Amino acid sequence: MRPSLSAVLTGMVALAALLVTAPTAHAADPPLRDLAAAKNKAIGTAVTGSKLTGTYGEITAREFNWLTPGNAMKWGSVEPTRGTFDWTEADRIVDFAEAHGQDVRGHTLVWHSQNPNWLTNGTWPPAQLSQLMTDHIALEVGRYKGRLAAWDVVNEPFDEDGTYRETLWYDGLGADYIAQALTAARAADPAAKLYINDYNVEGVNAKSTALYNLVRDLKARGVPIDGVGLQAHLILGQVPSTLQQNIQRFADLGLDVAITELDIRMQLPATAAKLAQQRTEYDAVVKACVAVTRCTGVTVWGFTDSDSWIPDTFPGEGAATPYDENYVPKPAYYGIATGLGGTGTTPPPTPNGCAASYSVANQWNSGFTGNVTVRCDAGSSLSSWRVTWTFGAGQQVGQVWNASCAQTGAAVSCSNASWNGSVPSGGSATFGFNGTWSGSNPVPTVTLG
Ligand code: XIL
Repeated sequence: MRPSLSAVLTGMVALAALLVTAPTAHAADPPLRDLAAAKNKAIGTAVTGSKLTGTYGEITAREFNWLTPGNAMKWGSVEPTRGTFDWTEADRIVDFAEAHGQDVRGHTLVWHSQNPNWLTNGTWPPAQLSQLMTDHIALEVGRYKGRLAAWDVVNEPFDEDGTYRETLWYDGLGADYIAQALTAARAADPAAKLYINDYNVEGVNAKSTALYNLVRDLKARGVPIDGVGLQAHLILGQVPSTLQQNIQRFADLGLDVAITELDIRMQLPATAAKLAQQRTEYDAVVKACVAVTRCTGVTVWGFTDSDSWIPDTFPGEGAATPYDENYVPKPAYYGIATGLGGTGTTPPPTPNGCAASYSVANQWNSGFTGNVTVRCDAGSSLSSWRVTWTFGAGQQVGQVWNASCAQTGAAVSCSNASWNGSVPSGGSATFGFNGTWSGSNPVPTVTLG
């Protein structure tokens, strides 16, 4: 069917507007780690050691200056059977960090969760329990002595009402287990900053006040304590308004504060509106840290939705991290960038001297034609390719030529057809599609992966 004259005219007007308003040049943002360094802050991510290759490894190295092992240093991971140790994954992460000029936050020594069964199921008289704990700390902290910048020595000691959580440690040793653990950690590595880490302590509330009183008293008693970790597993729309004030009150005690496990989860499916709100909230959390000198930085709990604990732990929720499952930066990524003082506009760098670009070739009342070109510089080539992006305003891909595309929610992923996977040095491949739009049709940032 031929479009009507008025549709063609509307399309031409829209196209002209697009050409005129297309951004010409933005001040380029460097990677997040460079933005953070310019503010004297850390930007970190939790990582899975076995994934530190390919795109996952490239992004980890390029964007972050701190790493936290997501699971690899937990007691259950390192000593699954009593006296039998597995440091493979933890070593890999520390080696990777050193190779890429990154600091490591050890996580975590004394916790109620992810302990080995032999420990959890044992019956331990107090003296023996204390010895087990301090031996474990001496061994693990000692193994990485001089190589780790910080340790989450004690994790999650409090209940929501600010009373001590009843754990293996508290039940056996009383609240003094915390001082014992910190003292053992300091002895094993005097250079590492020692933290107590917890969740739901981001705003001023009963739990964060209990943490505040604890660290104030520990400091007064001369127990080694350098900082508090605010995990910040947040829910979209529920960033505490007292975040900065809370960070400041810990800082005023003479302690460092780190945001250690930031993610902002939402009910699935993710929509453009929720992702935009998430961007604002990532920006706000990062800014709250940047505003307080003693806030050392922000670590996200996994940088990609494909490596996030949220969907398994909170069924129906997800999309909590700054990159989607295909490693495409989400609006949240740009929120972190602006939080760190960047412009939040830079498209991500492209691997291997090849890049993809997206243009709207034609647009009419409710439809448009998009073109995507994959281009390689001289000296670079591809034998297959995949281009991904996130539509910002509810656009939907329809008919596609010269590629095959799948769209899930706002996320689009297109891979080459059998005949155009190879892009020679200095050459290009192009595909196109018809899509639908309403309201607006912003050009997405595309990633070649
Ligand atoms: C989570 C990991 O991300 C998951 O892979 C694991 O199954 C459970 O633990 N608070 C913490 C982290 O301190 O260690 C937790 O990590 C998330 C909550």
